[in-house]
Amino acid sequence: MRIETDRLVLRPWQESDRAPLASVLGDPEVRRFYPTVLTVEQAGAQFDYALARQAEVGFHFGAAELKATGQFVGLIGLGYIPDETRAAIRGNPAIEIGWQFDRSVWGQGLAPEGARALLAYGFGTLGLDEIVAFTFRGNLPSQRVMEKAGMTRDPAADFEHPRLELGHPLRPHVVYRIAR
Ligand SMILES: CC(C)(COP(=O)(O)OP(=O)(O)OC[C@H]1O[C@@H](n2cnc3c(N)ncnc32)[C@H](O)[C@@H]1OP(=O)(O)O)[C@@H](O)C(=O)NCCC(=O)NCCS
Repeated sequence: MRIETDRLVLRPWQESDRAPLASVLGDPEVRRFYPTVLTVEQAGAQFDYALARQAEVGFHFGAAELKATGQFVGLIGLGYIPDETRAAIRGNPAIEIGWQFDRSVWGQGLAPEGARALLAYGFGTLGLDEIVAFTFRGNLPSQRVMEKAGMTRDPAADFEHPRLELGHPLRPHVVYRIAR
C-alpha cells in the first residue's frame, strides 16, 4: 500500500520509523486523551505488532510522511477493531480508521487529508462497506478530523471503552461512521 495525497505519502512501516514513532507515542500532549504515554519499549512492541499485522492482513495503521521532505509525521490507517471493542459498538463494525500525528505538524489539516485518501482506498481498493472511527468523548480535535473526512457522528453508538476500568474518566467514547 502506498497512497499519495497533495502533501502526504501514506505507506507501510520501515525500520527508520521506529524512533520517530516512539517520540510521537511518548509525547504527553499527543497522548492526552489516552490512558498513558508509551515508553520506548512499548512503542517498539506496537511497531513490531504493526509490522506483523501488515504482513498477515495486508493493511494496518501505517506511516505518514511529508511528500516534500520525506519526514515521518505520524501514524494513520485502517485496522480491524479488536473483538472486545467491536462488541461494544452498535452494529459491531469491523474496520476503524485512526491517527496520531506529531505535535509539530498539527493544525495544517494533514490528518483529514490522509483520512479522506484512506477512506477512498478502503471503499475502492479494499471494497469495504463501512468504516468507523471512535474516540474519547472529550477528544474534540480528533472528532473534527472525523467530520472533515466526511464521517457522521452516530450518537446511538456511544459506548464505554471495554479496555478501561469502570469509572475511568476516558471511558466514554463516541462513534463516527461512513458507508461506501
Ligand atoms: C487529532 C489530530 C490527528 C489532528 O490532526 P491535524 O492534522 O492537526 O488536524 P487538523 O489540522 O484538521 O485539526 C483538527 C483539529 O485539531 C485541533 N487543533 C489544531 N491545531 C491544534 C494545536 N496546535 N493544538 C491543539 N489542537 C489543535 C483543532 O480543534 C482542529 O479543528 P479545527 O480545524 O476545526 O480548528 C492530532 O491533533 C493528533 O495527533 N492528536 C493526538 C492523537 C489523537 O488524539 N488521536 C486520535 C485518537 S482517536
